[in-house]
Order: sequence, then structure tokens, then C-alpha cells
Amino acid sequence: MLFPMVAAAAEPQEPPATAELSPATRALIIAEMQAMAQAMGRIHTAVVSGDHATVSDEARKIHDSFVLKQELSAAQREELGAKLPAGFIAADRAFHVLARNLAQAGEHHDATLQRLWFQEMTRACQSCHIDHAGTRFPGLTPHAAQANDGHGDGTDHATE
Ligand code: HEC
Repeated sequence: MLFPMVAAAAEPQEPPATAELSPATRALIIAEMQAMAQAMGRIHTAVVSGDHATVSDEARKIHDSFVLKQELSAAQREELGAKLPAGFIAADRAFHVLARNLAQAGEHHDATLQRLWFQEMTRACQSCHIDHAGTRFPGLTPHAAQANDGHGDGTDHATE
């Protein structure tokens, strides 16, 4: 059950929600995703090595949406609100709260909480991809993440 071809029966048929956007705006979202993926790698290394300052700096950058904030025009901002489903916007908001929590755990030098918020963020990435990235990630099915709203209540569901 681990590989995309085996999970083909559950493959989502919808295009990603972002396919509705103009090419330029969609490209910014994709650039943001790639920047976040890289930041998550740096954060992971920092979490496991007790580099609290890097944890908080990198999580803060994710919280501040590094690419999007600088590059989005006012018209593009409106486009996001108009074309992306409300659930996408809500998932994005919830995700940013988790990034802030992780940044704070970095500031408080709390390695245990850093691990927890890192996991919750990972879950939020998966959940949004399951709900809104459609055909982009055929290997992700609803079984891949238990909590699908990224609410980040601190509950640890690590029973899979
Ligand atoms: C609010 C929804 C949402 C959240 C949260 C989210 N993503 Fe995404 N992500 C998407 C969507 C939608 C796409 C597909 C974009 C497209 O192809 O238009 C995507 C695409 C990607 C891609 C592929 C980019 C490419 O090169 O095409 C990567 C990598 C990625 N996300 C990483 C992450 C990581 C890492 C996280 C968490 C730290 C995350 N995403 C959180 C919605 C989300």
C-alpha cells in the first residue's frame, strides 16, 4: 500500500485548486511550496541538533510566507481570495498558526515541542495536498494523514 501505483484506485481525479489561478500566480504558489519544503528540511536538521535559533528563524519565515508576501500584487491577492476554495484559505491559515507555534517553541528552546509542531506541520502539508492538490500527489490518499484540518490542537495521533 506504500506506492502510488498500488494506491491508484484512490487517486484523486480533480486538478489542484491552484489550476484555477493565472499562470503567474500559480507559479508564485509553487515557488512558495518549494521554498517551504527546503525550509522544512533545514528546520528538521535544526530540531534534531538543538539549533533553536534556526528553528525559530526558519519557522518565522514560513509563518511570514516568504515568497508570497513579497511578490504578490494586490490584484493577485484578490485573485487568491476569489479563485481558491474557502477550505484552502482556512487550511493555509491553520498551517500558519502551526508555523508560529513552532517559531515560539524555537524561541523557548523547547526541543520536545519543536518536534511536536514539526510533526503537526508535516501533517498539515499532507492534509492540504490530499484535500486541494488533486492529481498532483497521487501517492497521497486520505489514509496518509489522520487529522485533515490542520487544527493543531496539540493532540498526538502518532498511532499509524
Ligand atoms: C493550504 C494548502 C497547502 C499547504 C498547507 C501546503 N501545500 Fe504544498 N501544495 C499545495 C497545492 C495546491 C499544490 C499544487 C500546486 C500546483 O501544482 O498548482 C502544492 C504543491 C507542493 C509542492 C510541489 C511544488 C512543485 O514543484 O510543483 C511541494 C514540494 C509542496 N507543495 C510542499 C509543501 C510543504 C513542505 C508544505 C508544508 C510545510 C506544504 N506544501 C503545505 C497546497 C498546500
